[in-house]
Amino acid sequence: MTYRVVVAASGRGSNLLALGDALARRPEEAAIVAVLSDRDAPALELARQRGWPAIRLLTPAEPLEMTSALRACRADLLVLAGYLRLIPSEVVQEWQGRIINIHPSLLPRHGGVGMYGRRVHAAVLAAGDTTSGATVHLVDEVFDRGEILAQGTVPVRAEDSPESLAARVLEVEHRLLPKAVLVAAEHRRPVAFTLD
Ligand code: GRF
Repeated sequence: MTYRVVVAASGRGSNLLALGDALARRPEEAAIVAVLSDRDAPALELARQRGWPAIRLLTPAEPLEMTSALRACRADLLVLAGYLRLIPSEVVQEWQGRIINIHPSLLPRHGGVGMYGRRVHAAVLAAGDTTSGATVHLVDEVFDRGEILAQGTVPVRAEDSPESLAARVLEVEHRLLPKAVLVAAEHRRPVAFTLD
């Protein structure tokens, strides 16, 4: 049975698109059944263009809208792809082990409150790290803390800016997230894996 995936995104939605493209090639394995956002994000417009139900949450700090949407969609998995809000603890509890997030660093380095977008890559450069990458992990009540399922690495180059590093990491994200979802579909729950 097709694994039913809901994606939450607050931004431009490139991971959403990469996931949608990958799943479109494997429709009997997994499919995006809705896209949620806490704001009028470009990702919601992309969802409408692709024909995925697009849901703008009006009270994202409250659990009700999110749990209603997940139940109504009969979701198997919630994927956070650039979703910038903490998931209410009621949702985390009900969907324990069935929510994953992608983060643009090698967690536990450079995660936590306020660590998103350009700030993550600036922190990697400021720390002098020679390797960075992306992490897919289970979601719990604390930002970027849940069990790590997989990571993909990239080199940090001496001439990197936050933008050039972000672009290199994003390519890895676009391979890592689809694989995380396809592996989860195969096992009917998110599990650890390695990126080739
Ligand atoms: C990605 O870097 C993701 O890792 C992070 O937010 C960014 C979202 O980018 N959580 P996009 O909206 O998928 O293009």
